[in-house]
Amino acid sequence: MNIGVIGIGFVGAVTAAVLADQGNSIIALDIDSDKIARFNSGDIPIFEPGLKELILKNKKNLKFTADYRMLRGTEIIFVAVPTPNLNGKINLDYVYRAISSIKSINNDAIIVIKSTVIPGTGSKIKDEFNVNIVSNPEFLREGNAIEDTLHPDRVIIGGEEEYAEKVANVWKFSNSPILITTRENAELIKYASNSFLATKISFINEIANLCQKIPNADVETVAKGMGYDRRIGPLFLKAGIGYGGSCLPKDTEAFIKYAEELGEEMKIIKAARNVNEERIERIIKIMENKIGKIGGLKILQLGISFKENTNDVRESQALKLYYALIKKGANVIVFDPVSKIEGIRYCESIKDCLISIDAIVVATEWAEFKILEEMDLKIPVIDGRRILNPEKFERFIGIGRYCDD
Ligand code: UDX
Repeated sequence: MNIGVIGIGFVGAVTAAVLADQGNSIIALDIDSDKIARFNSGDIPIFEPGLKELILKNKKNLKFTADYRMLRGTEIIFVAVPTPNLNGKINLDYVYRAISSIKSINNDAIIVIKSTVIPGTGSKIKDEFNVNIVSNPEFLREGNAIEDTLHPDRVIIGGEEEYAEKVANVWKFSNSPILITTRENAELIKYASNSFLATKISFINEIANLCQKIPNADVETVAKGMGYDRRIGPLFLKAGIGYGGSCLPKDTEAFIKYAEELGEEMKIIKAARNVNEERIERIIKIMENKIGKIGGLKILQLGISFKENTNDVRESQALKLYYALIKKGANVIVFDPVSKIEGIRYCESIKDCLISIDAIVVATEWAEFKILEEMDLKIPVIDGRRILNPEKFERFIGIGRYCDD
């Protein structure tokens, strides 16, 4: 099938690569021509495991362009442009711009909104532009994006049956459950899911706060015990310094604002956000209680991205922790396997960093940080992501473990 994808960020690039690999002819469009030039030269500007290989493998039927005219003749066009928040409210300008541009060159394609948009957006666009619109929200996780696109837990498609069925056909290869519903339900499912995930994380983080005050308590074991209950499930119960990234913080904020306009207060989601916002303060306090004044200390921070297997630092709690430590007067040096930000002092490897360090703090759950367990460290190790085995350290301080302070 001839398919267009507009907006070559994480979601657009992965969608384009996976659909090309399934034998479709893909025109991938972005208005940023520098980005397009990089995609065309094989210098993929996004770090996502397996993405570069998949793009190069499908070079023949995957074309990158900044020219909308190339979308003439496509039957389905996925729109995966950003929907950032402006003063806490969703800004749909990029979506609208994409729709007008499509409208000017191709009247027949089914337009599929992958971008996260508030309920009602798809139907409004349909009425305003007189186009065939289907909602197909994206649930992929960064760092796991290819696998999540090949085998999603579910595919949600909202729209008129005739068009929804055509889009469902595109995803049939995944063998995942496909739910066809109204556009509004599809749009809501995305927000409700992300808000629920944020709530799950904040819930376990609140239990972690409590564990710090109870002798012999450890949130890791509490979460494990809870997770055996199939009604709860073991995933997204990992306590830490909080959630970040381009979706959970933004979507919960926009959802609250959207509900407010309908006269509803999303009390639970608000609480989840509040709990998340105080995570950094919490870990700083734990550090101060256990190792004393932070000012003047030389601290090695492991991880700066918002989670493992990505270089993305958008809304990264690790980055927030870095700035909080600096503000306290610490001398912080960072090691992150892929993420580099200007102005931050990095070291090349964990081993290189260890000389004259006063403490280590783990801020992102990269698996390679487990190497600390083999290092026979005498200095305090603060595990902000609970990835290390406490027994391997002389001075282990973990989020959600009893702290006798
Ligand atoms: C998320 C959703 O999972 C995805 O379905 C949606 O479409 C987009 O947003 P992503 O932002 O890639 O995906 O990251 P995710 O794996 O969900 O992690 C989000 C944040 O939560 C990370 O900062 C992670 O470190 C944190 N997290 C996750 C926890 O602190 N504890 C957990 O148990 C799980």
